[in-house]
Amino acid sequence: MQNNAKKITRAVIPAAGLGTRMLPISKSVPKEMLPIVDRPAISYLVEEAINAGITDILIITGRDKYAIENYFDRAMEYEYKFEHDGKFEELERLREISKGANIYYIRQKETKGLGHAILCAKSFTCDEPFAVMYGDDVIISKRPVISQLEEAYCKYGLATAGVKAVPEELVMKYCTLDAKPNDDGTYHVTNMIEKPKKEQIITNFSILGRVILTPEIYDILAETPLGAGGELQLTDAMGTLSRTKGMTAVDFEGERFDIGAKIGLLKANVTQGVVHPETGKAFTEWLKDFVKTL
Ligand code: UTP
Repeated sequence: MQNNAKKITRAVIPAAGLGTRMLPISKSVPKEMLPIVDRPAISYLVEEAINAGITDILIITGRDKYAIENYFDRAMEYEYKFEHDGKFEELERLREISKGANIYYIRQKETKGLGHAILCAKSFTCDEPFAVMYGDDVIISKRPVISQLEEAYCKYGLATAGVKAVPEELVMKYCTLDAKPNDDGTYHVTNMIEKPKKEQIITNFSILGRVILTPEIYDILAETPLGAGGELQLTDAMGTLSRTKGMTAVDFEGERFDIGAKIGLLKANVTQGVVHPETGKAFTEWLKDFVKTL
């Protein structure tokens, strides 16, 4: 390991957003708890983190997000029932959910943006580098995206963003990066702009859901003025970091689903429904017939 870069053991999952794109369901069900087949979307993020060697996860929640805490807690009423009925495999599967990593929660008292949510993690991450996993971005990949980013972080010692080239209309909704190729397939980033206008687009690379940040981000966030939508934007702070110190970008392997949007949630369900051990065969057969009717 070079550049004094440390192993990443902490992850922050901001999940306090209002989820207006998922109304009306998000009135009463946090979007992070919407199911992908039989598991809430956020459980895919926690699984990715654990597979990447993360030991401590902070979930930033808000009002009416108790369902997230309940999911990762033990469920004694089910455990007693399975124990009583001798269903030990089911019992073990249920218990697994609350194992694997220490999960902590903190409330973001006002939804003032992703940057503001990250500021709530300061006492949790202390002086350590940490992973940020955007709570509504589920990524299905062979190797956890956090691990892919960590490799580049260890090599260059710079905050590292997971990116993909996206169509222009999405760049304008997300962000644009000034990214020049390194010789190993990663990119060196010297600028980024949140929600650029068409004429501001530098490259079609946008950040999609995973970042490794270094503690200096907190001082930058504290100085960052409110940005798009009147919110404190994490991308604005990362823009300052990339202009002053530079960042690394990794065009990661994996398919990303924005489950904060209806179409993203539907796509995630179809792709997981066809491979799920219980539903895969029957759902695939049905889907093939259904597609013929379209
Ligand atoms: P989004 O902008 O996708 O979430 O933020 P949102 O604000 O809930 O979306 P809409 O537009 O209303 O549908 C990306 C991630 O940051 C979290 C969200 O929960 C999401 O996981 N977030 C956003 C916070 O934790 N706090 C905030 O103030 C804003």
